[in-house]
Amino acid sequence: MRILLLTHTFNSLTQRIFIELSGLGHDLSVEFDINDGVTEEAVELFRPHLILAPYLRRAIPESIWRNYTTLVVHPGIVGDRGPSAIDWAILEGESEWGVTVLQAEAEMDAGPIWATETFAMREGTKSSLYRNEVTEAALKAVLRAVERVGDYNSGTWRPTPLDEASSRGRLRPVMKPEDRSIDWISDDTATVLNKIRASDSFPGVLDALFGKPCHIFDAHEFAGHGSPGELAGRVGDGVVKFTSDGAIWIGHAKRSDYWPGIKLPTALAFPEAAELPELLEESGDIRYQEENSVGYLHFDFYNGAMGTTACKRLLAAYIKARSRPTRVIVLMGGSDFFSNGLDLNLIEASESPSDESSLNIEAMDDLCQAILETDGQLTVSALQGNAGAGGAFLALAADEVWARSGVILNPHYKNMGNLYGSEFWTYRLPLRVGEDQASQIMQNRLPIGVQEAKRLGFIDDHFGKDVAEFVSQVEARASALASSPEFTDRLSAKRSSRAIDEAAKSLAQYRSEELSHMQRNFYGFDPSYHVARHHFVQKTPHSWTPRHLARHRELGWMVPED
Ligand code: COA
Repeated sequence: MRILLLTHTFNSLTQRIFIELSGLGHDLSVEFDINDGVTEEAVELFRPHLILAPYLRRAIPESIWRNYTTLVVHPGIVGDRGPSAIDWAILEGESEWGVTVLQAEAEMDAGPIWATETFAMREGTKSSLYRNEVTEAALKAVLRAVERVGDYNSGTWRPTPLDEASSRGRLRPVMKPEDRSIDWISDDTATVLNKIRASDSFPGVLDALFGKPCHIFDAHEFAGHGSPGELAGRVGDGVVKFTSDGAIWIGHAKRSDYWPGIKLPTALAFPEAAELPELLEESGDIRYQEENSVGYLHFDFYNGAMGTTACKRLLAAYIKARSRPTRVIVLMGGSDFFSNGLDLNLIEASESPSDESSLNIEAMDDLCQAILETDGQLTVSALQGNAGAGGAFLALAADEVWARSGVILNPHYKNMGNLYGSEFWTYRLPLRVGEDQASQIMQNRLPIGVQEAKRLGFIDDHFGKDVAEFVSQVEARASALASSPEFTDRLSAKRSSRAIDEAAKSLAQYRSEELSHMQRNFYGFDPSYHVARHHFVQKTPHSWTPRHLARHRELGWMVPED
């Protein structure tokens, strides 16, 4: 079928649906929901057999749903309606939630039901639930709905009207700032964390720090007791605030009263934080553990963004891990993201984005180089979550790359204003996938799923239906690798192939060639990278759908006849 994805943005769920349906042989194109007239034009050009709306923020025009089968993915159980579905589910402590695929009609989310899936809720942020449980359930429901299109068209199957479906779901309003707001005197830690999780990563909880209004994000429980609402001190780049029965650590804040109005580590958003007592030096985003001759290095950076300091801290932790008497080092990344490369928010907020970009990529390359030069252990990248741009190439610095089934990779840089990229991609990518595939991956700018990534050789394997299952299999496989009778041979083969590669072209050479392109991106005449980064961090709404997604707008596109 020709399937048009009508969506607010090409977000992670939309990317996953795009990958899976394309993999089944369907013909996919994407149109961003910008303007009714433009959507109508897209439909005329693509003449889809089905329109799927995985992520919309407003109603679909009647001219579309009356004439085309149009299915909406709603992140709620049957009967749930409204734009704050997951927010309410978290805030109201639902133990089970779901995703429903329903037919678009005049009333939003109230059309007949095509498919639904449920899942157990977990203590996680809204965006973490969205990227994991919601995405997996949505995918199952979408696949089932797509299978039903033929029977629907032939009249042998009909979707269930909402009033015939039994469910506790109901219409709920948009969640307002006051529904999320924290009463620091009476709210206990669990309540405070629940409100923040229900609002993370968007829109955050409107609160105040140092007497100034801001939205807060990225919170964890912290041991301590004190006067509720008071700031206890600083830990890493976050601050600790007392609740009615304990304390929480607040990692990120967004000020609306002060330039640049984007999410930043709290201590950077509020320079006043420097005056607070330092309770602990490190915030716990980097963790190392060791078992059965395997060292596991976890780095759980907010949104997978790795700024200059984060890269340097991780390099120090890596060098320490490398000095241990282990046989295997596993780079675990974070549970939601492996890495998304340079921290574009920190770059945007710096005095000189060009200089900060340069420092950041040097720090990232130092880390990649240390991994590439490891000759005493075998190294593995274990992708629990998605990886994009430099973060995807950081993974390739390791000897083996394993990914959780369902992970999405965006191994290209061009979407960020034609950024050339570094992280030794010019060495590692062709080595893994061949020159032709390497240039296609870089030019296509499209996400790839784990099946395709394995077929291409970008990753070595994928497994585990969820994070817990993936991590336990990573542990088993890494231990097996460390105790394998072939370990010594593998290590010496790695050393000799690195020596051969180094003689053919040194790492220093790859690095300096890549960085000379990057210098032009950062300091050259063409400002595309700076413009693209600004729009990305400021979340400027789209005014058109990029051509690489809207295939129906490609030059030479022929309107299908059938
Ligand atoms: N720096 C700072 N923040 C980043 C980031 C980065 N490199 N990459 C992602 N984020 C943030 C997003 O702003 C978003 O923030 P919010 O939810 O707190 O508002 C969050 O991480 C999730 O990203 P989003 O774009 O919504 O996820 P996605 O799954 O739709 O798309 C990517 C994933 C990787 C395609 C996309 O995030 C991206 O292009 N990131 C930039 C990668 C890059 O160019 N890095 C620099 C060069 S190495």
